Parts: sequence; C-alpha cells; structure tokens
Amino acid sequence: MYRYLFIILTYTLVSAKFRFDNYTLYKIIPENEKHIQILQDILEYDQRYDFWTYPAPGAKFVNIMSSPENKADLENTFNSNDIKFSISMTNVQEVIDKETVGRYTRSNLRSMRWDTYYNLRQINDWLDDIVSRYSNAASIIVGGESFEGRPIRGVKISHGSGRRAIFIESGIHAREWITMATTNYIIDQLLRSNDPEVQAAARDYDWYIFPVTNPDGYVWSHEEFRMWRKNRRPIGSQFGVDLNRNWNSNWLLHGSSTNPATDNYAGPGPFSEPESRTLSEYIRSLSGQIDLYLSMHSFSELLLLPFGNSTQQYANYQDAISIGRRAMGALSVRYGTQYTTGNIAEAIYLATGGSIDWVKSALNIPLVYCYEFRDKGQYGFLLPANQIRPNSEEVLDSLLEMIHQAKRFGYMNGSASGSASSLRVSLWSMLCVIVVGFMRK
Ligand SMILES: *[C@@H]1O[C@H](CO)[C@@H](O)[C@H](O)[C@H]1NC(C)=O
Ligand SMILES: *[C@@H]1O[C@H](CO)[C@@H](O)[C@H](O)[C@H]1NC(C)=O
Ligand SMILES: *[C@@H]1O[C@H](CO)[C@@H](O)[C@H](O)[C@H]1NC(C)=O
Ligand SMILES: [Zn+2]
Repeated sequence: MYRYLFIILTYTLVSAKFRFDNYTLYKIIPENEKHIQILQDILEYDQRYDFWTYPAPGAKFVNIMSSPENKADLENTFNSNDIKFSISMTNVQEVIDKETVGRYTRSNLRSMRWDTYYNLRQINDWLDDIVSRYSNAASIIVGGESFEGRPIRGVKISHGSGRRAIFIESGIHAREWITMATTNYIIDQLLRSNDPEVQAAARDYDWYIFPVTNPDGYVWSHEEFRMWRKNRRPIGSQFGVDLNRNWNSNWLLHGSSTNPATDNYAGPGPFSEPESRTLSEYIRSLSGQIDLYLSMHSFSELLLLPFGNSTQQYANYQDAISIGRRAMGALSVRYGTQYTTGNIAEAIYLATGGSIDWVKSALNIPLVYCYEFRDKGQYGFLLPANQIRPNSEEVLDSLLEMIHQAKRFGYMNGSASGSASSLRVSLWSMLCVIVVGFMRK
C-alpha cells in the first residue's frame, strides 16, 4: 500500500512540469561599473535569480528572471542603488504557453515548418526522412553520446570526397531552442534550396551539422523545465554540468563555477561529461579537414571569436574579425538585425572551457565563431516561433557571406573540389573563346 503511494507520489513529483507563473523577466541597462559590480554580486551570492545574460563590464543590457516571491527584494536592490530597469515579461509562463511545439508527420518533409519548435523525437524523425530523401548527398552521423545514453545525431552533406569541411555544433545549451530550429533550417536549405549560391555552398564543402548536441537537456527543457541549460548528470542532490564550460581549454579559469547548483557549473574536471568528451573526439578525427567551425547559441545578437581567457589576439585574429564583420553586414541586410562582432572576453566576459576555445587552441582550425542569435532581451530564450524563419534566413545570409569573404582572405580554398571546379570554369571559358573565335570567322 505504502509502496504504491510512494510510487504515485514520486511520479507526481517527478513528472510535474515546472511552471513559471508570475515570474518576471527584467531588463537592466547598467550605467556604470558599480551597477555591474552589484549585479555580479547578486549572481554570485544569491541563488534565487536566473541570469539570462551575464553582467559583463561592457554589457549593454542584462536580463534577470525572478520568481514572484523574490521580486520585491530584487527591485529594492535596484532602486536603492539607482539601477534602472524595465520589465520584459510580467508572466514568463504566459510566454511559454504561447510557444508552439509542432508535430512533424513521418515521411512528409513538407510538414516540417519554420514557424514552430519541435521536440527531440520529431527532429530525429525529420533528420531520418530528409537524409533518406536526399541520400545521394546526405547521411546520418553520430558525433557522440549523452550521459543518459542518447546518440548525438547529425547530418553529413557531401557531394564527393576530398572537400574541405564546415562543422556546425548547435544546441549545447538546452533552453536555446532557436539554435536547434535554425540549424535544422540550414540543413534543409543545403539539401533543398533552389538558390544557386546555397547550392554551391552545399556542393563545394563537406558539412557536418549537429542540431542537438545536448539531447538530454533538450528533452528535459521540453518535458520538465523550460529554462534548463545544462546536461542531466546527477551530482549529489543537484543535476547538470554546463557543457560549454566543460571543454579542456583553460577549464574553470573564468566565468564558471564549482557549485553544481549553478547554471555554469564546469563539472568535476575537463571533459568529465560524455557529451563534450565524445563530441571533441569526433571533431578531432576530422581536424585536418575543418576550415570553419561554428557554435550556435542564443541570445544577444553577437558573433564571438576565441578566446575567452583574454582579449589577447591569436595569429589570424584580424582576418577572422574582418570576415566576421562582413558576414554580419550581410546578416543585417534582410531585416536590419545588428550583430556585434568581437572576441568572447571583449564582447561578453571572461569565460573559459567553451567549445570554440578548445577547437581553436587544440585543433588550430583557421576560422572559429560562436553565434548568439536573436534577440536583445525582449524574449530571450523564449523567442517567438514566428521569428524562427527570419532568424534562420538572416543567419544563412551571413553564412554564405562568411564563406565568400573567407575565400577572399585566402581561406577555405584548399579543397580538391575547389581546384576541380576552377579547372572546369577555365576549361569552359577556353571553349567559349574558341567557339566565339570560330563564329567570328
Ligand atoms: C499570478 O498573479 C495573479 C495576479 O496577481 C494572481 O491572481 C494569480 O493567482 C497568480 N498566479 C499564481 C499561480 O501564483
Ligand atoms: C589564453 O588561452 C589561449 C589558449 O589556451 C593561450 O594560447 C593564451 O596564451 C592564453 N592567453 C593568456 C593571456 O593567458
Ligand atoms: C587560397 O587562396 C589564397 C589567396 O588567393 C592563396 O594565397 C592560398 O595559397 C590559397 N590556398 C590554397 C591551399 O590553395
Ligand atoms: Zn548558450
């Protein structure tokens, strides 16, 4: 009898989806270093609040979410320190309730829409379907495994061997749902677009694309706790390691915590987590081939470059910045979205143990960037589904320009296919010259 009661009770406790009723999202515009210091102290010493962005010295805005019980304390702290704030959401649950999670119909690629989010199972079904429909160029790849034993699934797109590679890692932070959606859109367009420039990008490179690199966290974010960021490793009574603080590059040096209760807990050691460890081994196995590595995050509208430990610049930093700025110029054309480009330490704050730092320092991949997608703190992680398409379109615009600029700067042109296609072009123009010459006679 008691046993059943226990089971029922446990089931209720475990399966009750956490609600954010009357939670408030604040947007703070810090005016000086003292404001930043106060916000940093709250983050460090007061576990009651969820910082959606970090109060960095250069931060243009900071988003903090509070439960209704703790609001008054927070607002008192703001007011007594002359910190100006506005309220982005008065009831976070209401915004969560409006977030549409669609249903993908098996074997019907057209039922995949770009105005709704999907859960892990539906993304996996869609990946299987699109790969089988375009099996000439696409295949399923497995980049590693999660703590709970889920495969980290992705798609390889290749139109022939010997091409240079582009690697996209997305969704390492579970609550950043726009990153999985936009990465799926990139896969879709590379296989299905009629735009010659997109088709050329698909043809000229080998693409390794992983939309959900933290599958356990993503499932948890859908089923139990929308604001989940980390993986799902149990540590005492706590759960989860921040997978983007767990890579073996200046591990635990900056911007991460040894406290498992925090959202930026770096884990018991570098690469302690199966997700980051297995994925890094997979990336290493391709390291001689990758020319461009992208890590997709949200939000703040930034393009970040390594490293997170200092503003010191690496060898090709100026090239990488120039290529990145031009790509962000292209991103702004369609909808006017203005990204800021800079290195992590400069543009956000000192934070180490992230994937792009490891990829740059351990594998020396020439071009490495981290996107922080829309928006600038109005909806944050709860970006409305009607912004999936515009966000995806502008990001794809920027990616095409990034490739174009990279080539102008002498990168991404070392492929066999690149020389093959330029050979084709020159043979073709020679033929034209001959034909034109012949016709003139
Ligand atoms: C949220 O706030 C409203 C208005 O103050 C109140 O009526 C309602 O009971 C609150 N909901 C919850 C779940 O606390
Ligand atoms: C920052 O980290 C990179 C990569 O590990 C290293 O090469 C560089 O020397 C570090 N810079 C400083 C100032 O510690
Ligand atoms: C790529 O192009 C640049 C500039 O045109 C050139 O300097 C470089 O040698 C090329 N690299 C390869 C591998 O072809
Ligand atoms: Zn993130």
